[in-house]
Formats: sequence, structure tokens, C-alpha cells
Amino acid sequence: MSRPLRTICLLALATACGPSATRNAPAGDSAAAAGATASDTGAPAQGTRTIGLPQSRAAHPDTNPPANVSHGEAPIGAPGARPPVPAALAPRDPGRLHRVRLEMSHTTIEIAPGKRYAAWTFGGQVPGPVLRVRQGDTVDFTLVNKAAIPHSLDFHAAEIAPDKYYRNLMPNDSISYRFVARVPGAFMYHCGTAPVALHIANGMYGAFIVDPAAARPAAKEFVLVQSEFYLTPKPDPQGTYSIDWNRMLGLAPDHVVFNGRASQYAEHPLEVRPNELVRMYVVNAGPNRISSFHVVGGIFSQVFEDGATTTPLRGVQTVNVPVGGGAIFETRLREAGEYPFVTHAFADATKGAVGVLRAAEPGSAPAGPAAGQH
Ligand code: CU
Ligand code: CU
Repeated sequence: MSRPLRTICLLALATACGPSATRNAPAGDSAAAAGATASDTGAPAQGTRTIGLPQSRAAHPDTNPPANVSHGEAPIGAPGARPPVPAALAPRDPGRLHRVRLEMSHTTIEIAPGKRYAAWTFGGQVPGPVLRVRQGDTVDFTLVNKAAIPHSLDFHAAEIAPDKYYRNLMPNDSISYRFVARVPGAFMYHCGTAPVALHIANGMYGAFIVDPAAARPAAKEFVLVQSEFYLTPKPDPQGTYSIDWNRMLGLAPDHVVFNGRASQYAEHPLEVRPNELVRMYVVNAGPNRISSFHVVGGIFSQVFEDGATTTPLRGVQTVNVPVGGGAIFETRLREAGEYPFVTHAFADATKGAVGVLRAAEPGSAPAGPAAGQH
């Protein structure tokens, strides 16, 4: 498609898919935004370029975006933004026995610029650490509860009895066990303590990658965990938000994010090279919203649903990642440029489930902090 025509199509889609939120800004937002950057307020920071409509609580979206607007709902390359949570998938430890120790604790995280959230975590971070093993490897696992309430952990990558191993741990309790990761894929792990939606919505999830016994081809690899945050109307006196249970039950997230923070990979694009094989492991932690994963300007050469190795989809545009599931997406970006990746459920992209793959030859663009490795 020629560039002028492509621009027109993107404009049309951006307009059609603009935000339509009717909930007004929580009163606490103004306090939280006291030190906010321009990106908080929806106005492009100086020197940045907006590729989407600003996230807004306005009753009606802006239907007259500037000419350079396309998909995506956040400024690209906002200067001064916090470093992103690394999206590069680290290489696997070559050993066949993996000793993993996770502590569960409560801490404050940042889920959007200037917006702090009282999270429940694995390893003090949201998402929890990415775990990666090879099919047939043994995981020697220890879980410790450093929080003041019961928690637990459910590995979707394991085939073991939940009543034995996924039981609630009281504060300061721990459990150790081993299992064999028999099935390759992109799996979720999460706290399974009731109510599970509360524990997941508060941040207790992560990705567990099991590589097939026959290695996949070398690629630039990223891991993206999609999830949602449901906020109280106002933060507490320390400026920290916590979960609004009724908004969670009403399926009305304030932020839908990749790797725990809204729009972070729009601010800090993921760097790739034109035509190199890009592999994205996408896990959808939810707790509620299906991810319709799509790369603007790209077509997936292969998608392995849940990581199944035998029956990849070929030549597809968008594939759903169910809540509690995962998929492995492969593509090659055919020319230099910035390619947004989104959930094509665009209300959720508006709320932060958007990022950018920047395809550039080495030396032709500044190296991004999230540049990956394989
Ligand atoms: Cu929990
Ligand atoms: Cu589960």
C-alpha cells in the first residue's frame, strides 16, 4: 500500500476507534498528576510525536486528530519517561534442573506515569519474574509468603495436583516441590487464592516459557504479559491507588497494560531490524479482558496458540489470547518504520495496551532501552 493511502486508512481507524470513556476523571487524578509529565495529561511532550488519541476521561473523544496520528494511544519516545520494564526475553539457563525461589510480598508499583498502585506481587514486581525452561526440564521450586495475608501459586505449565501444591500459604509459610515441564508453550502462573480475581487484578501473575525440545529458530524475542488495573476513584493520602472491586466485577478497567505499565513501549519502542524474525510471547493474565493481539503494518508468519508446536496458524492478522492463556507470535517487519502492537479491542488499547516495534538498521536510530536479545 502506498504511504498516502496507508496514512488515510490509519487515520480512519484511529478516529473510529478513539476513546469513548464516560467516567470522569477521578478527583484524585489531579493530586496524583501534580508532578505529571505532559503525557499524563494527554498533551504531547515537547519533542515527542503522538501516534494516537490521548487517553482521556472526556465524554467524547477527539475526532480531529493531527495528520501524523495512527494506531496507538500514547506519545512515542516521551523524554523523561521512566525506564520500561524489560520486554526482552532472556536466554534460558542451559541446565536441565532449574532452582526457582519466589517470594510473595505487597509493594507499591507505578502502573502509569505518576500513578502509584498498591500491588500484590511475586518477587516484588508486576508481572512476576519471567521463568524459562526447556521441555522436559525439572523445576525445583520454593514459594515463600512474605505478605500479611494468605497467597499461593498456580503454574499452568505444570501437571500436578492443585490441592497438594497450589494450597494457600499463611504469612511466613513456605512450600517446596519439583515438577517436570513436559509441554512447550507460553504459560501463565498466578496466585490462586480466593477470590482469584482480586489476587490477579492486584498483580500476582507472570509468564513461564517452556521451549520445545527441538529449538525454535533464532529470533529477536520479547515477552509481553497483558493485564488490567481497576482503581479506586481517589488515591490514599500517600497518593497510592488500590483496587476498586466493583469496577473489577463490572469489567471496567482503568488501565490495560503490557508488562505492568500503560503504554510503556510506546514511550520506549522495542528495537528490531527490518526483516529479522521477531518472536513475541504473549501471555494474557486478565483477569477479564481477552487480548486480540495485532501488529499494525505486519502479518504474523506463524502463531503458535498456547505455544502448541504442531499446528501453527500461518499468515494471520489478529489472534485472540484468552484470559489465562498465551500464544507465540512470529513476524518480520518488511521495512524500516514504527509498527504499533495492540490489542485490537481498541478501548483497551486506549487504556494502555499499546506499544511500538521500531524497525531500523543498526546505527540508523537511537538504541532503545528495551532492545532485546535472543
Ligand atoms: Cu495472592
Ligand atoms: Cu489459572
